[in-house]
Amino acid sequence: MRFLITAGPTREPIDPVRYISNRSSGKMGYAIAEAALEAGHDVILISGPVNLDPPPGVRAVSILTSVHRHIRDSDLLVMCAAVADYKAQKVSATKIKKRDEHLVLDLILTRDILASLPNKDRQFLVVGFAAETNDVEENAAKKLREKNCDIIVANDISSVDSGMESDANEVTIFFRNGEKKKISRAPKKILARELVKIFSHSREKRLTKKM
Ligand code: CTP
Repeated sequence: MRFLITAGPTREPIDPVRYISNRSSGKMGYAIAEAALEAGHDVILISGPVNLDPPPGVRAVSILTSVHRHIRDSDLLVMCAAVADYKAQKVSATKIKKRDEHLVLDLILTRDILASLPNKDRQFLVVGFAAETNDVEENAAKKLREKNCDIIVANDISSVDSGMESDANEVTIFFRNGEKKKISRAPKKILARELVKIFSHSREKRLTKKM
């Protein structure tokens, strides 16, 4: 199968030297890319800036706007990237100088890539990720519905030893038919193998249903 995987944070510029970003390390997305390759799949990895080398054998692309460009040639989209929700309304062409006690930045919403994907008769399976600090189940179920995902992988990032930047993770997977499956805490590389199996199985099931 052809996997399209996004990973890492995005950066939204404020001025020539500053940006808005987040703590995503890209480890989960890169581990999924590696596990998908190991399982014999084709992988395109679209990554934000991270301190990781793409696993040998993947096609690496380094900007997130390319999701729309590559998605139609894919069987599975795994949106692991932590896309910034807001960007500066006006990016300053020159460095913003220090002046007053308070500085107010006007931020506007970015485009939600996941929510903007074609929904009707799509051939590819869409997997979203939900990083939550509270009400994990409720928020994940809402994202599944509102972003028209086939699967949402939710992780609780409230603890220091799971989720963001960590080498381990614990996730609950929510399916469109209301089923859910919990995978207990494990190294991201091990977890990734399990996830790849679940994703490719769901995609296969979808295909057989259509035939
Ligand atoms: N996502 C996206 N485009 C955005 C923001 C998020 O495609 N502009 C995707 C992420 O890649 C992820 C999913 O949406 O697969 C959920 O991202 P998350 O940050 O957990 O949720 P948000 O929709 O941003 O909602 P909130 O920040 O309120 O939790």
